[in-house]
Amino acid sequence: MTTLGIVISSAWSQQQEVIGGGRYLYEKFCKTCHGPQAMGNGPRAPVLQPKPADLTTLRQRNKGTFPFWKAYRMIDGRVDVPGHGTREMPVFGVWFRIPHDEVSIETEWADQVRGRIWQLLSYLKSIQVP
Ligand code: HEC
Repeated sequence: MTTLGIVISSAWSQQQEVIGGGRYLYEKFCKTCHGPQAMGNGPRAPVLQPKPADLTTLRQRNKGTFPFWKAYRMIDGRVDVPGHGTREMPVFGVWFRIPHDEVSIETEWADQVRGRIWQLLSYLKSIQVP
């Protein structure tokens, strides 16, 4: 294999690793409401009003561009999603949350939170319908 081939395939496998991590997080924190295939039909969906969104159509519903940063802010809590509960008690607890004070934003925890959200969105981006 050429050097370029190796570079490309290792970039590809890194990307697969990020997506795999995102799938794990999705299953842990989102699946009960948004469903096994992210189509909005998780086991908790019947009792929820409004219904959980179909997360496979985010790109389709945003004129063909995956709304990466908008979705990022929905997960870190800066954009309110009524179905996700209040900012003080978001459904996914502290895992996707950086306390908004000057010390916390520089901590290792904050970096881990950003990494998790990045993985989660990479996974969601990978499962968009055309
Ligand atoms: C307790 C149930 C519940 C859980 C858990 C949950 N969601 Fe949601 N989510 C909802 C509901 C209900 C809506 C849609 C209604 C609304 O706007 O409030 C929604 C909406 C969204 C939206 C907005 C979609 C759009 O079309 O604008 C995104 C993005 C989202 N959720 C991502 C996630 C991710 C990622 C996770 C896991 C980290 C997650 N949600 C976990 C219930 C949930």
